[in-house]
Amino acid sequence: MERMSVRDVDPRGKRVFVRVDFNVPLDGERVTDDTRIRAALPTIQYLLERGARVVLASHLGRPKGTAKPELSLKPAAIRLAELLKQDVEFIPECVGSEVQERVAKLEPGACLLLENLRFHAEEEKNDAAFAEQLAALADIYVNDAFGTAHRAHASTEGITRFVRPSVAGFLMESELKYLGGALESPKRPFVAVLGGAKISGKIDVIENLLPRVDHLIVGGAMMFTFFRAQGLGTGTSLVEEDRIDMAKSLLAGPHKDKLVLPVDTRVAADISGSDPGTIVPVDEVPGDRMGVDIGPASITKYTESLVSAKTIVWNGPMGVFEVPAYSDGTFEVGRAIARATGLGATSVVGGGDSAAAVHAAGLADEMSHISTGGGASLEFLEGKELPGVAALDPKGALS
Ligand code: 3PG
Repeated sequence: MERMSVRDVDPRGKRVFVRVDFNVPLDGERVTDDTRIRAALPTIQYLLERGARVVLASHLGRPKGTAKPELSLKPAAIRLAELLKQDVEFIPECVGSEVQERVAKLEPGACLLLENLRFHAEEEKNDAAFAEQLAALADIYVNDAFGTAHRAHASTEGITRFVRPSVAGFLMESELKYLGGALESPKRPFVAVLGGAKISGKIDVIENLLPRVDHLIVGGAMMFTFFRAQGLGTGTSLVEEDRIDMAKSLLAGPHKDKLVLPVDTRVAADISGSDPGTIVPVDEVPGDRMGVDIGPASITKYTESLVSAKTIVWNGPMGVFEVPAYSDGTFEVGRAIARATGLGATSVVGGGDSAAAVHAAGLADEMSHISTGGGASLEFLEGKELPGVAALDPKGALS
């Protein structure tokens, strides 16, 4: 269902409460990766330019209901002010009379950032009274925190019971457009690339994607659970023993021909990187070695499939890409996806590890969309409804 957008409201002079995801890495008092802050700029700037009084709120880390100075959002306010080139008032609380007074004095075209919502346990409990206190700061609610949309918290779900309209910001819209577009109306061939260590964390994604895709390419340590299911030796590679039966049923299931597994792998003694490793066919993994990456023949096979794709979803690295000697598989798959994108494909990269890999490979500008949500994009690809999205007003709700 399409949700109302920030474009559908008149924010002039109104107090607009924008839930952003400023859960960013910090190095003491400095933001070390401002990707998520930059991603929220279009919504914030749009509102400021239209004379809204913008109240920004976010969580940072998992302080579990206590005020932890090292998880203050003040560094995010400083970085946001630099990016906006205008003052961003930082309020060291997120509810209470002082906050209400400061919000009441906020001028049109000005913005402030509240302190970490998770300093109050009520945020994660989706406490109704807390949500109502947040709502008291708002005439309009905008959710632009896609990365937190899989959490039913007071600032993402509860608040929408007390503020109308509740609408999506531009980042939220764009995430839903790309991720939703891939699932609902992909141009074909549609190829998914799934990697990462564990099949268990991806099983719902595999089950939701398999009926929709033309090919599902597998990499990362999870390939060894599939190989064990095929009766192959896997050396000391990570295998989830309790998922072997699940892998067997996928390999024998109605979509088995869509599953594409590596044909070779780089093996090493461990993942320290001290040993560059050797390439072996997947049915010749030595007993004392572990797979750390896919091999060159697999890269060639995957590249051929990817460059002719028209829709690509990528979630999870092909190997231990953080170690340079084991990064070829992940980076070459990234390059193939970038090439396909240059040839007209729509490429969508899940957040978390895959986003980190794309940035490490210097390919971020060559993808159609890199999600800002790790857990949220995974749950979306699993086919789950995200509570932060479901809570927003449907298109046409106010007409
Ligand atoms: C994220 O970083 O994935 C989001 O900000 C959500 O954070 P959480 O997993 O602590 O809820």
